[in-house]
Amino acid sequence: MTSLANASDARDNSESQPSQQTPAREVVLTGDRPTGPLHLGHLAGSLLRRVELQQRFAQTVLVADLQALTDNSARASELPDHVLEVMADYLAVGIDPDRTTIALQSDLPALAELTVLYLNLVTVARLERNPTVKAEIELRGFARDIPAGFLCYPVSQAADITGFRGTLVPVGEDQLPMIEHSNEIVRRINRMANRDVLPESKAILSAAPRLPGADGRKASKSLKNVISLSASADDIRAFVASMFTDPTHKRASDPGTVEGNVVFAYLDAFDPYPDEIMELKSRYRRGGLGDVTVKARLVDVLEAVVSPIRERRARIVGEKTYLRDVLSEGTLRAHAVTSSVLDDVRAAFALKPRRVGKFITM
Ligand code: TRP
Repeated sequence: MTSLANASDARDNSESQPSQQTPAREVVLTGDRPTGPLHLGHLAGSLLRRVELQQRFAQTVLVADLQALTDNSARASELPDHVLEVMADYLAVGIDPDRTTIALQSDLPALAELTVLYLNLVTVARLERNPTVKAEIELRGFARDIPAGFLCYPVSQAADITGFRGTLVPVGEDQLPMIEHSNEIVRRINRMANRDVLPESKAILSAAPRLPGADGRKASKSLKNVISLSASADDIRAFVASMFTDPTHKRASDPGTVEGNVVFAYLDAFDPYPDEIMELKSRYRRGGLGDVTVKARLVDVLEAVVSPIRERRARIVGEKTYLRDVLSEGTLRAHAVTSSVLDDVRAAFALKPRRVGKFITM
């Protein structure tokens, strides 16, 4: 059995600095919509960072299945499988359930109740102004038929963050408006209660630029321009072969462009020898380095990154009972935290602590 206490012990050990200046205890909270297996973009953008953050902080990763429903309710029946796929990805890349609490959003009723309370503090106009929601509405072609749950998902995400008293939220830039939204709600609650019920949170942005898809467009499963963490060696070769480079770089001797060249974007993200990549880039720019050579290097680099993940994932993906156990254990721990936060927030709304349905059975 693992416990939240273990996770915070680990953090205390690695953070044992002189006590006067001890920073407030940071709580890392992040999440993913389980819309299918994760891909290499997730690995570079968020998964590796979580593996590192779990060494230093108490961390919860939320499998946000309710959020996945907000724009995908027609595909609800696929979600349980996607949840297990994502679990397998997490464990295969080294997210350690003894250090990171992995929890299922839909099994945490306190988060739903927090959402309902917060909805009273947010205007429809404010939601419609959220740039990420706006962009996603355009992308999906919603007009007046936008699901209310989708418009309100920033509020549900504020419940996710605050429900764990999250202070650090590692996300991509597109999620910054969500954190701003969450902090506005936190300030409203704290003002209502006239005390600090909830902490504000900060984004941790990845230093690495977002990886493009093979065609140079936004990486997206539906555009079929990404590659999963369980890709075979053949998949990797085909993926790299399909990568957009520089259309004017026809012969090896031609000078080529590195900016917007997908092969170099992936080399920057994954090649363990950045000095050599710098060297390769200048040769490519000067002329004298062919796509075939750079692509061959990338195939080797990606194979080295993916093969241990692929092997670990293959061992665990069929262990559904184990994956479900890890998830319910994490969710149970998360339930204790989110229920206590809910009681504090209820108090700010002059509601008594919740008695009915306090205990869930899993
Ligand atoms: N919105 C995030 C995404 O699209 C997923 C998510 C859900 C999340 N709840 C969260 C991220 C809480 C950070 C914190 O990937």
